[in-house]
Amino acid sequence: MPTITSVKGRLIFNSRGKKSIEVDVVSDDKFLGRACAPSGASVGSHEVSSFVNNNPSLSLEIFNKYSSKFIGVDSSNPESVYKIIKSIDNSDSFSSLGGSVAYAISMAAVDSASKSLDIPLFKLLKPSGPYKFPYPLGNIIGGGAHAGPGTPDIQEVLSCPVGARSIMEALELNFSVHNQVRIILEETDREFTYGKGDEGAWAPHVNNEEAITIVSKAIERLGLDLGKDVALGIDFASSSFWDRTTKKYNYSRQNIIRNTDQQINYVNELIQNFKLLYVEDPVNEEDFESMASITKSNNNCIVTGDDMLVTNEERVKVASRYGACTGAILKVNQAGTLYDALKFVSECDKSGFNIITSHRSGESIDSQIAHIAISTSSKMIKTGVIGGERVAKLNELLRISEYSLIEGMAELSSTYHE
Ligand code: PGA
Ligand code: ZN
Repeated sequence: MPTITSVKGRLIFNSRGKKSIEVDVVSDDKFLGRACAPSGASVGSHEVSSFVNNNPSLSLEIFNKYSSKFIGVDSSNPESVYKIIKSIDNSDSFSSLGGSVAYAISMAAVDSASKSLDIPLFKLLKPSGPYKFPYPLGNIIGGGAHAGPGTPDIQEVLSCPVGARSIMEALELNFSVHNQVRIILEETDREFTYGKGDEGAWAPHVNNEEAITIVSKAIERLGLDLGKDVALGIDFASSSFWDRTTKKYNYSRQNIIRNTDQQINYVNELIQNFKLLYVEDPVNEEDFESMASITKSNNNCIVTGDDMLVTNEERVKVASRYGACTGAILKVNQAGTLYDALKFVSECDKSGFNIITSHRSGESIDSQIAHIAISTSSKMIKTGVIGGERVAKLNELLRISEYSLIEGMAELSSTYHE
């Protein structure tokens, strides 16, 4: 068993230039694992708190005070690390240690263990196959909390290369869509600034329907079949424009207000008109009933909860009772520890929800989520298209694809095409 022999935390910056916590874990005196907590901009209200009193330095200070408790622990066992974290902070929301610390120590531990055991992280977390690649969901046009005024109210128009036969081909398809959208924007907007949002998606001056139309046009222009070669998805992140007081969806950038029924109809129409394969948070995070209505009306679309489920197993149980979702976003930092996140995955498996492993809008160049996606048999991985911190995860998928050759795990690539 790989044993933790040293632990060290530090403050570093994420892709938004905001402070985050990174932790180094060394197992058996020589195997260094390292992880930095990501952070969201459209944060679900039921996520754990990232830092004590929103203060990264304070979280680090508390971690330093207790870090010796991790010495001697089995770094390959997420539950053992979880128990130590809980002995420091027993609150549900990690309010006295910070979810960022919980994330960084639990991911750095398994990262270190995989080096000590000389096996890739996905194999440590799921010792036997079959292993499958997730489809990369690429954020092509962004708005909402990730971009400024003039951009769409909806947060992300996504492309999913469902017709790809290998991970390389899948990534190339998303890059082509990204580039073709730039060409269309150059043609249609003389003042297009090449501006991008927090996740590297284009952030043009277009409204919601224009954004979706442009991405579907790009797919057609590439000679690809919409829905067959590349399908579209949308992350509405609708809690960020849900007005709790008026109980309406306020598309303020387009000057449109929708009540709940109008929102459901709008989502259903978009799913039909653009053959959407995927929608995320189409209604506000508490509205399981409306989510269930959208799920029931759209058998061919993966209706996914992000802010609604917040990587929390109890919320999956509620969603399951309502029949609210067919997809569940997995963001380890929403739960805090890797162990909590894995319990969420088991609950999703029981409920038959597809897992979609996801980055956050504020990221580091870590690439462990590529392994998390494979070990949890995620249907998709949502990690952007361009930008160093996004490509880091995509490139890790390419490195992982070599294991099919090295270890004869042919199923890694051969089961890619369903
Ligand atoms: P966030 O956005 O990381 O800013 O929360 C990502 C998402 O909503 O999927
Ligand atoms: Zn989301």
